[in-house]
Amino acid sequence: MKNRTSKALVTKKLLPKAMEYLENHIDFQVAGIDRYPTKDEIIDRIKDKQGLVSLLVDRIDKDIIQAAPDLKIIANCAVGYNNIDVSHATERGIWVTNTPGVLTNTTADLTWGLILSVARRIPQADRFTRNKKYKNWELDLFLGQDLEGKQLGIIGMGRIGKAVALRAQPFHLKIVYTDPIKLSPEEEQIHKASYLPLEDLLKTSDIITIHTTLNKETHHLISKKNIHMIKEQAILINVSRGQVVEEKALAQALKRRTLWAAGLDVYENEPEIEENLLSLDNAVLLPHIGSASIETRLKMSMMAVKNLVAVLSGKKPLNPVNQI
Ligand code: DGY
Repeated sequence: MKNRTSKALVTKKLLPKAMEYLENHIDFQVAGIDRYPTKDEIIDRIKDKQGLVSLLVDRIDKDIIQAAPDLKIIANCAVGYNNIDVSHATERGIWVTNTPGVLTNTTADLTWGLILSVARRIPQADRFTRNKKYKNWELDLFLGQDLEGKQLGIIGMGRIGKAVALRAQPFHLKIVYTDPIKLSPEEEQIHKASYLPLEDLLKTSDIITIHTTLNKETHHLISKKNIHMIKEQAILINVSRGQVVEEKALAQALKRRTLWAAGLDVYENEPEIEENLLSLDNAVLLPHIGSASIETRLKMSMMAVKNLVAVLSGKKPLNPVNQI
């Protein structure tokens, strides 16, 4: 039955099935139809709302939360929630929810797509072919790197890091990982992964892939200070959050070839990208599509709206990231 006592704000239209679910369950307003709303627009429209559905690019800060005296829930349509001031929401007794689990395999698949694309230079070779530059088979055309026997270093061994490790097994890689929480011996065995401190992982890995959440400790975890520790022939992959890597330092390392190549799905100031990176042939750049499969983006949208409706119907959320 439609809840007519609460109203929600959705920052930008979700996938059609999720919009349909909202229409059947709650009164709501969409802040931006074909563009993201500005902070002022959100502030203006959230005043009389009890619920908010946000996307990972919406900065839901203290000002926005303070503008909504009746707010009960912020349902983020993403597993990451670094875009939300969770501690202020918690102080105010507002639930914050995310979309864990459903995007694990999709993001791990994309990670492998990036690893292979970078190692074998697939996007560059595609551009070359389309530009009618393929004149002759050449022994040294687009030489890439083999994976077999190399060391894969996983930074952040949560759900996605583990799924990346499981997918590494047929490639016969040695797997190491770093994480504030060490896996149990059983889990290390299942994932065929052994623990290394960050510095050792950086110094010894051939492919480094980042799957950590963004927080104070992981901001610029890969920085000007430690990027030089990475081997010259190594590949760096980031599908977590752009701010985990100091983008300028990365672009410099790639330009100077002190790092062989990188594959990025996320950027420090998304959607802006460090100008130097754009012109480098040893970087494969994607527009934050880690979880972008038809199935997964639908599941994420549905999870967000179900969390919203649950709380506005007086129930507990299904995927809380804070405790009220
Ligand atoms: C998330 O959900 O945090 C992902 O970055 C979306 O692709």
